[in-house]
Amino acid sequence: MSFAPLAGNGKITVPDILSRKSHSPAGFAESKAKITCLTAYDYPTARLLDDAGVDILLVGDSVGMAVLGYDSTLPVTLDEMVHHTRAVRRATRRALLVADMSYGSFHLSLDESVRNALRLVKEGGAEAVKVEGGERRIELIARLADAEIPVMGHVGLTPQSVNALGGFRVQGKTGDAARQVERDARAVEAAGAFAIVLESMPRDLAARITEKLSIPTIGIGAGPDCDGQVLVIHDLLGFGTQHKPKFVRPYANLSAEITRAVSAYCDDVRNGSFPSDAESYHSTAELRENQPAAQRR
Ligand code: KIV
Repeated sequence: MSFAPLAGNGKITVPDILSRKSHSPAGFAESKAKITCLTAYDYPTARLLDDAGVDILLVGDSVGMAVLGYDSTLPVTLDEMVHHTRAVRRATRRALLVADMSYGSFHLSLDESVRNALRLVKEGGAEAVKVEGGERRIELIARLADAEIPVMGHVGLTPQSVNALGGFRVQGKTGDAARQVERDARAVEAAGAFAIVLESMPRDLAARITEKLSIPTIGIGAGPDCDGQVLVIHDLLGFGTQHKPKFVRPYANLSAEITRAVSAYCDDVRNGSFPSDAESYHSTAELRENQPAAQRR
């Protein structure tokens, strides 16, 4: 299996991401290039995204809904995460590769959680892991950091909590709820995370958290004031059947393009125009000469 090349050659590293924080601890906003992050689950897509210059490739457990046909991210297993992370690793040269810890892989004991994160690093080739949850993940994040595994936090709407939250809902909409999201973000930072995803929350709350934290915030449905943005690649490309939340901007309509191409292929096979003679292999002239006339075409 191939591993990430050494830094110093354009490779994005965890310290590079930290250095892209746009607010200094003194509270001054500096103009820094925003961090770009997209999900990737397979080799060819990861290759294209890496070549296009995306800073962080996230092997999200959204693979369960975007690719594997599950209704939520809950059924995704650690083995599935390792499998997809390995594929993305083989394609990734420049971007920082982050893999999600799947539901159930960090909920039993701290030892088992660290063992599972190590699998994503050692077998999958991830350079960091993402863990959903705020205050209640403090110990875990600290243990992972202690094991030299950089952690990206994730607060606000955490899709693995879909049952507890009662659905995929915008978070932090009341005063109490906003204060809890803020406490969660601070806890993740204090525990040692190097970046944090802020998902589905009011723009002003995400802006406030971005201003207060010294680690970069990466928003999804959290407005434009975060230090970076992340989207699920299938949503960006208009590929798939999932419901698209309000915050998704589709930059392409691949579903329509794929349907058009596949219908054209079916038509051509059925009417005999595919494959053509030019798309066929042929025996040598000598072999054809020696065939009985009845078998020549
Ligand atoms: O699983 C995922 O893809 C994610 C991102 C959308 C942040 O958690």
